[in-house]
Amino acid sequence: MIDQKLADGLKRRAQEGDNAVLRSAELKSLFEQIKTMPAEERSTFGQEVNQLRSELVELLKTVQDQTEALPPIDITAPFDLNVPADKRPRLLPTEAGSQHPLMAELATVLDIFYRMGFTAVESREIDDDFHMFGALNFPEGHPARDDYDTFMTTQTDSNDKALIAPAHTSTMQHRVLQAHKADLEQGKPIAVVIPGRVFRNEDLDVRHEHTFYQLEGVYVDKGVNAGHLIATLKTFLQEYYGKELEVKTQPFYFPFTEPSFEFALSCPFCDKKGCNICSQTGWIELLGCGLIHPNVLHEAGIDTNVYTGFAWGGGIERLVMMKYGIEDIRYFESARLDFLRQFA
Ligand code: DAH
Repeated sequence: MIDQKLADGLKRRAQEGDNAVLRSAELKSLFEQIKTMPAEERSTFGQEVNQLRSELVELLKTVQDQTEALPPIDITAPFDLNVPADKRPRLLPTEAGSQHPLMAELATVLDIFYRMGFTAVESREIDDDFHMFGALNFPEGHPARDDYDTFMTTQTDSNDKALIAPAHTSTMQHRVLQAHKADLEQGKPIAVVIPGRVFRNEDLDVRHEHTFYQLEGVYVDKGVNAGHLIATLKTFLQEYYGKELEVKTQPFYFPFTEPSFEFALSCPFCDKKGCNICSQTGWIELLGCGLIHPNVLHEAGIDTNVYTGFAWGGGIERLVMMKYGIEDIRYFESARLDFLRQFA
């Protein structure tokens, strides 16, 4: 007998139009099993397996027929807003979809920061060398640039430098500081968070993706110190995870902060006892942070004799994985319906 759950799983994949199901390891292993069966069971089992395969082929064909039956959409046609809603082409039937879990979590994250007085601006998906490195105090040719290995275009900017798919949201710091520095003169702090998509040339594994999201934060005012940084992040994390947490910082190096820290929190799953999520250490390293380097403030025209600030940046997937115990970062961009449906 074929395992019912396995057969159902394969049929579901076929119903979703996944052609690869016919080449799947599960189906192959069923065919393998036929050969090793005792003679008296072989023929019935063989028939069942072949029957299952035919059903999968049928299901795939039905899905394909349905897809082909859809009228083609002329994507070059101008979109006429005056046409009544029910007559407009239905490009995306939203009733069949749901919000991506990452975007739902991002809304929660931003809401916490709004309540703490921050505003938000999204980062860019293409940026230039100056914002990626120069404005962040990375000298030309400095080895620290190698930590941010990402993708470049063949197109260049006005300084003849390749455009860059940013490896971090810190690329926005200079713009945010410049855009808000007038607030400082009116006695208001700069308090901005910056969510955005970032890209890295990574060896992929359960913790590393080539495309992921970060949340950056920038805060500048008179008399800002590392205590403010730690209190802000701790408050946010306790609100997000809904529990008391311990945090710790350890010294690190970033060109754009001085001092720089790596920020860790007590594992929200095991309360520091040690579990699989925290690799038995009781602590989770979550983000990079520090006091904004005077060169970065100065480059944006902010008087470093009067103002100081802190900044941080970290992966949003990491934060969400910690909340729900998600074991593999690659699920987020995988378009796996079984993963997405758990959050729908
Ligand atoms: N941009 C850093 C990274 O992706 C993280 C970071 C560290 C951001 C320190 C900051 C900061 O704003 O102050 O590795």
